[in-house]
Amino acid sequence: MARLSVNIDHIATLRQARRVKEPEPIAAALLAELAGAEGITVHLRKDRRHIQERDLEILRATIKTKLNLEMGTNEEIVKIALRVRPDLATLVPEKEEEITTEGGLDFSRNDSRLKEVISLLHDRKIMVSLFIDPTSSNIKKAHRYNSDTVEIHTGHYAETKNELEIATELEKIAGAAALARKLGLGVNAGHGLDYQNVKKVCLIEEIQEFSIGHSIIARACLVGIKEAVAEMLKLIGG
Ligand code: PXP
Repeated sequence: MARLSVNIDHIATLRQARRVKEPEPIAAALLAELAGAEGITVHLRKDRRHIQERDLEILRATIKTKLNLEMGTNEEIVKIALRVRPDLATLVPEKEEEITTEGGLDFSRNDSRLKEVISLLHDRKIMVSLFIDPTSSNIKKAHRYNSDTVEIHTGHYAETKNELEIATELEKIAGAAALARKLGLGVNAGHGLDYQNVKKVCLIEEIQEFSIGHSIIARACLVGIKEAVAEMLKLIGG
């Protein structure tokens, strides 16, 4: 059965809208854990639009499940990661103008820096995941780069409405997940998953963990975090 890591960035987005103390992302993380989430994910962005360094530090000191830090390879962020030591660092491409992460890593663009950051994280005994689009060449590269885990980008699958294209996207994800497992990599998946589209993707047994944020926090605004997390857990069988 797959684990669920709840991305709580949007709780911080709401707090930063007023730059006040509430809502408190740490409280959301603890409630998500109480509801059965097996991990908490945050993205510390260079522009600090939601999660702040202080959030990361308090989460590190308080949550009992796994802390997954999504991060770019920017020097300042890497330094913070090396100091705070999340359980998992998920390396993602980060663009200032994007609303959310737009796609998987482009290996041809930041090749040497990516390798360097992976090795720095490993030196501090931090497990590394690479956020990639579901292609066999990306999986092989992640393996070659010594990544421990891959996070398969499900954004294209989530955006697709046409049944035939949905089946094609699912096939890509399943193929990538199977290859990753065969190579000994951990397999996570996420982006754009909600209470409807998660049903098909969670039939792919090779996926060990889902990282889900927007849909859970959106539902939590209406029904509360504990219920929103519990409902998602029921769907993914966690
Ligand atoms: N995985 C990665 C790498 C992401 O960047 C995000 C968005 O922060 C997610 C998963 C969660 O996506 P969503 O908020 O659409 O569930």
